[in-house]
Amino acid sequence: MSKLTRRQLIRQSLTGLAAGGIASLTLRADAGPTDATEDVHEYEDFLDDKGVPRIQPAGKFEPSHPDILGPYFLQGAPFRGKVTPPLTKGDLLVMRGRVWGHDTKKPIANALLDVWQADAEGSYDLTDPRNPPPRREFRNRIRLMTDENGYYEYETIRPGAYRIGPGASGFRPSHIHYMVQAGGYSKLITQLYFAGDRHLKTDRWASKSNLIIQPQKVKVTGGTYELGTFDIVLARV
Ligand SMILES: [Fe+2]
Repeated sequence: MSKLTRRQLIRQSLTGLAAGGIASLTLRADAGPTDATEDVHEYEDFLDDKGVPRIQPAGKFEPSHPDILGPYFLQGAPFRGKVTPPLTKGDLLVMRGRVWGHDTKKPIANALLDVWQADAEGSYDLTDPRNPPPRREFRNRIRLMTDENGYYEYETIRPGAYRIGPGASGFRPSHIHYMVQAGGYSKLITQLYFAGDRHLKTDRWASKSNLIIQPQKVKVTGGTYELGTFDIVLARV
């Protein structure tokens, strides 16, 4: 990082803001609250013709299947909407969905999600227990909460497959780990997989799983990204 004085940094920042058409960001003491941002999620309609929520990926309103915790979970990840650090190598993926109560068939607000994954090369930040990451670094791990309508959304990259044993069948397919908690519901530990992954059939967990999503390619100016939906249904305690 270049060595800028604080004054130079502020001058540069102001120049950038002015160039962007924002002349001043001074907030008056008597300023009112900012208007809420319009909802631009454009989530698809989660209710079918009979008013029953469409649930992905199982397609049935049943408690989501659990999956293995694996050896790479860490408690206390930061709350943020982006799993990977900025400019991380990999195919951009936006994941979204809702958390539902199985008993009520209604979305659950303020459900807590832990999300963790490997990088594009299939490596976690603590693959070598003898050489753990610095505390508070939490690379490729986040926590987030569902909003008042049970929605969550985060940005990441598609994780890489990684080897856990010898031979062609010794790969875990690309996957993202989830731990989901909400008051009055059983804690769910699960993971999602990606349709078309060549390692799905040989993986002892994924091969029996219904937790397989099919992200859609979305074109934007200058490129594309993948958009995946993963809804979760929690069972009552
Ligand atoms: Fe894993």
